[in-house]
Amino acid sequence: MNSNSDHAKDRAARAGADLVRDGMIVGLGSGSTAALMVRHLAARLVGERLAIVAVATSRATADLARTLGIALKELDEVDHLDISLDGADEIDPQFRMIKGRGGALLREKVVACASTHRVTMITADKRVERLGPGMPIPVEVSTFGLAHTERHIRELGGTTAIRRAPDSSLVLTDGGNAIVDCHFPDLDDPAALDARLQCLAGVLDTGLFVGLCDLLIVGTLDDVETLEVPRS
Ligand code: 5RP
Repeated sequence: MNSNSDHAKDRAARAGADLVRDGMIVGLGSGSTAALMVRHLAARLVGERLAIVAVATSRATADLARTLGIALKELDEVDHLDISLDGADEIDPQFRMIKGRGGALLREKVVACASTHRVTMITADKRVERLGPGMPIPVEVSTFGLAHTERHIRELGGTTAIRRAPDSSLVLTDGGNAIVDCHFPDLDDPAALDARLQCLAGVLDTGLFVGLCDLLIVGTLDDVETLEVPRS
């Protein structure tokens, strides 16, 4: 770890892992911050002899957790999660988020919706006044009829790019779906846009996460800020 931003990220990840208590069922997010949190959590499980069960939001996170000795279950093997801990790409003052740059948005959203307490761990640069201008909204789309679904997304006023690997092959999610990265010029109402996108045939979910953050942890160079989100 060498940059200031790495230290800030690690601080947020550690603070997230510290929220886990013995006996909890824990949702493990995806991405670099979530991976750091998984490492801190694994160290606590050993050091403090805690027993938890975890549900991973991606194959990558499941592989890491397994390597570190964290007991995993499938989501459908538990009836709820006590807490889920995940990163985000952007978050606005209403705690609305864009997630999914790592492509795990569908599973992340399903796990967040099954969790009693949703914790988001970020660095300060992820806080924005308005979602969108600098960050595409990833939309998970069935590969069947992908071009048609992309056109329907564009008809809602967005510009789109199907996510591809350097060799031009489709980047596929763990569920075998494509990702369409979208920019919308007018993102005043993320919940409304999320609903409009989700109405399109072929769209499985979007990276707009509204009402899915209960606690925000912001790692900075020398501190951690924790913000409780008021329940509406
Ligand atoms: C993956 C995600 C990640 O949580 C998000 O992209 C943040 O990642 P990182 O912690 O690496 O910045 O939504 O689908």
